[in-house]
Amino acid sequence: MRKNIVAGNWKMNNDLPQTEALIDGLKSQTQTSNAEVMIAPTFTNLWHAFEELRQSKIEVIAQNMHFAENGAYTGEVSASMLKSVGIQTVILGHSERRAYFNETDQLLAKKVDAALANDMRVIFCFGEELADRKSGNEESVVENQIKNALFHLEGSAFKNIVLAYEPVWAIGTGETASPEQAQDMHAFIRKTLDSKYGSEVADNMTILYGGSVKPNNANEIFSKPDVDGGLIGGASLKAEDFFAIVNAF
Ligand code: PGA
Repeated sequence: MRKNIVAGNWKMNNDLPQTEALIDGLKSQTQTSNAEVMIAPTFTNLWHAFEELRQSKIEVIAQNMHFAENGAYTGEVSASMLKSVGIQTVILGHSERRAYFNETDQLLAKKVDAALANDMRVIFCFGEELADRKSGNEESVVENQIKNALFHLEGSAFKNIVLAYEPVWAIGTGETASPEQAQDMHAFIRKTLDSKYGSEVADNMTILYGGSVKPNNANEIFSKPDVDGGLIGGASLKAEDFFAIVNAF
């Protein structure tokens, strides 16, 4: 079922004391929207955050995981490890993972499979770079990212997937896609899903927008019919700003 979701991606920010302080800040906020709210702290703080927010409506999610169950993968974390500390949802395919850690569509397909095999929910990120948009190739880039990493799945698998369209040129730059650009791409994504899986999968898919969403622009972006929420980086690091975005619904 299509939902409204606002997820905060903390990236490599906040040590343990800072995590505690931000969680205290989040607990003091009032939610007036029906959106599902999630935060993604770094691996070392997942368990603590999960324990702190156990009684709240905020879900703690992971920023990444490895595709293997266990073994000789120094520095990596598996789906079952995440689940053992209460984590049910993982972000995969963030553009920073693609750009700095060479994560390819093929690798991401394996990670998606591993997460789904462990009954986890996936927030799958993708989006074009500035050069793609300048050359008018944004739709074909996005279509390929989705097809290469997800189109081997059965339609029923999509109930555990949330898509996050994040144009690389808008991430951390202060430059957002216009609400119309976001709407156009989200409608295109739904059409791409429809062509392979039919309207039920396409209409029920939750599609988030990410890239410089702030309290002052969230309302307009979320008002678009095919935008179901946001993946928030910088603005998720301040409790008031994050909740101003949550309450923009
Ligand atoms: P930003 O990051 O909100 O800081 O642009 C978004 C993201 O990377 O998910």
